Amino acid sequence: MKETIKNLTAYQAELPADVVKEKYQLDHLARLSANESPYGPSPKVGAAIRAISDNVLGFYPDGQATLLRDKVAALEQVDPENLVFGVGADELIQLLTRTVLTPGGNMVVPSPTFGEYALHAQIEQATTKQVPVDDATGHVDFAGMLAAVDDRTEMVWLANPNNPTGVFETRADILAFLAQLPESVVLVVDEAYYDFADAPDATLAGDVGNYPNLVVLRTLSKAYGVANLRVGYGIMTAPLYPVMQAVRLPYNLNTYQIVGGAAALDDQDYLQDVVKKVQHERKLFQDFLREQGFKFYASQTNFIWLQVGDTKRVGEMLLSQGYQVNDRLSDTWLRIALGTPADNAGMRDILVQL
Ligand SMILES: Cc1ncc(COP(=O)(O)O)c(C=O)c1O
Repeated sequence: MKETIKNLTAYQAELPADVVKEKYQLDHLARLSANESPYGPSPKVGAAIRAISDNVLGFYPDGQATLLRDKVAALEQVDPENLVFGVGADELIQLLTRTVLTPGGNMVVPSPTFGEYALHAQIEQATTKQVPVDDATGHVDFAGMLAAVDDRTEMVWLANPNNPTGVFETRADILAFLAQLPESVVLVVDEAYYDFADAPDATLAGDVGNYPNLVVLRTLSKAYGVANLRVGYGIMTAPLYPVMQAVRLPYNLNTYQIVGGAAALDDQDYLQDVVKKVQHERKLFQDFLREQGFKFYASQTNFIWLQVGDTKRVGEMLLSQGYQVNDRLSDTWLRIALGTPADNAGMRDILVQL
């Protein structure tokens, strides 16, 4: 076995709702720990999946996911030949790390950020250099990130907006950073939560054509509300695109994912409706936190990162009252996904007592 992964611990997946309800004798559980959508997907997604003929079951799916590819290309205004699909953005993270990192190499990430990046680096026997975000604002320290790049650096990851901070960096700042990065270093901008940002033109998807070392990731798990379907994609050009296409498994997306994903993308009105609701709830929640004097970072996502003191105690207290939040990321900060208006109000009623 690889020496670097002997002590690897498995990703702590969410406890299933039924298990939590049983344990705490709850009638209602608000699952606000995995940044899922409380609104679910457009009803057109389930209808499209149910309409798939059973005849497809005996045959391999379309390995190019053509239906999905053409829809995403039109939506993002990119070349269909710049898209690599994955079983969630998770699979793209795994594939990119596997493709780019070499044993003894390193990658640079802000801290805190999504844990999967470092996990996969470890599997590839590479190391991760963590550059703390600005303590007051949660913004990425771009100068610090550049200073951390050395001659063994092979990748830089930026979740934008970032998870768990929720903080959004402007396209201009990211492009200025990219301009100073050696071309041999791949910059992945993970835009999993991009749909929730107030600035609609802030994606780097349109910049991929100008930078062979730039990759943009997206997922349908968040704003589109189909986390269970597992559909994500990466936007990239040569030399990465053909290599990633060769590295990925040939039939990684099945027909239900392709058809369901395409139906989700088709219903842009539904997406915009969800985004407006989340933005509204986010404002209410942040106004509340500000009034109550909580330390938190201005979020552009469907979740909020706030300082609560003893995270485990507060997490347990919330869970016992039917609110499952993420208390596993820090000893003093909690990540709370925005739920339904009623759940968010219920959560505020508890937090006010802290
Ligand atoms: C920043 C970030 N990237 C990627 C993912 C993975 O998303 P997916 O469900 O598409 O695998 C997540 C999931 O929480 C995330 O927070």
